[in-house]
Amino acid sequence: MDVVNRTTEEPRDLAAALAALAASRGESRALRAELEETNHGVLALYSELELQAEQLREATELKSRFLAYMSHEFRTPIGSIRSIARLLLDHVDGPLTPEQERQVGFIQQTSAEFAEMVDDLLDLAKVEAGRVEISPGWFEMVDLFSALRGMFKPVLTNAEVHLVFEEPQDIPKLYTDDRKLSQILRNFVSNALKFTPRGEVRVSVERVDGDRVRFCVRDTGIGIAPEFHASIFEDYSQVQSSLQKRLRGTGLGLSLSKRLAELLGGGVAVASEPGKGSVFSLTIPAQLDAP
Ligand SMILES: Nc1ncnc2c1ncn2[C@@H]1O[C@H](COP(=O)(O)OP(=O)(O)OP(=O)(O)O)[C@@H](O)[C@H]1O
Ligand SMILES: [Mg+2]
Repeated sequence: MDVVNRTTEEPRDLAAALAALAASRGESRALRAELEETNHGVLALYSELELQAEQLREATELKSRFLAYMSHEFRTPIGSIRSIARLLLDHVDGPLTPEQERQVGFIQQTSAEFAEMVDDLLDLAKVEAGRVEISPGWFEMVDLFSALRGMFKPVLTNAEVHLVFEEPQDIPKLYTDDRKLSQILRNFVSNALKFTPRGEVRVSVERVDGDRVRFCVRDTGIGIAPEFHASIFEDYSQVQSSLQKRLRGTGLGLSLSKRLAELLGGGVAVASEPGKGSVFSLTIPAQLDAP
């Protein structure tokens, strides 16, 4: 009985197995076709993405070039306005009435701010276009600090704020681009002075991790709420405050500083508490490697 049963069941099993095999073959063919279709889709998306990235690169390049040309072209007329205002204030062509003196002073101040803005824009455009040249050289930190001190002396108009440069201790000779480094520190210090009604702005430098140096600009000013700590390093970003309304500025200084710090192989950071003050720091290698 047993034997008879097996022989009649075997062909049925085989047929079922064959049918299952055919079905799974069909399934796998369908799957392969689907996969191929998906592959084509992915490839099409990929080339579209490439195209868009290329267009974006072109747009960025155009924007940078436009900014660079525009800011460059602005420099000459601003220069003339500034020198004419200087001549008038120096009474080269005769004296001015007090009111004229005030008005020309205003022209001079505004054109100086305009010139600064144009310089920042030009620098930003250059950084974006990858055209900023880093020219490293050897220099002593003491010399850079005293140059900065000299630069800020004439603009320290608020007697209630002291600007202190700490004596650099145990800092090796640096090999980096001193002009870019000075540009970053200048922006940190001028911000600190702008946003500190009274107290102190302290600039220091220390060694970190053996081969890096960290510069800190501490102030006892109005501080910055934590939610703005990241955004202030973006272009045109400013935090609204009662002080801000009375101050000039474009909100480009920190974003430019951040990019310059990256070009020097380092980075910038902020720690701040509203009402207490801020610490802006820059950490860079003491010696910039040749690219
Ligand atoms: N030391 C500081 N204390 C408080 N707020 C600060 C300080 N430094 C920067 N900020 C805030 O960050 C913003 C951006 O600074 P950033 O230097 O980029 O622009 P700005 O000083 O307003 O203009 P610019 O530097 O282009 O003349 C400032 O407008 C201010 O709101
Ligand atoms: Mg600034």
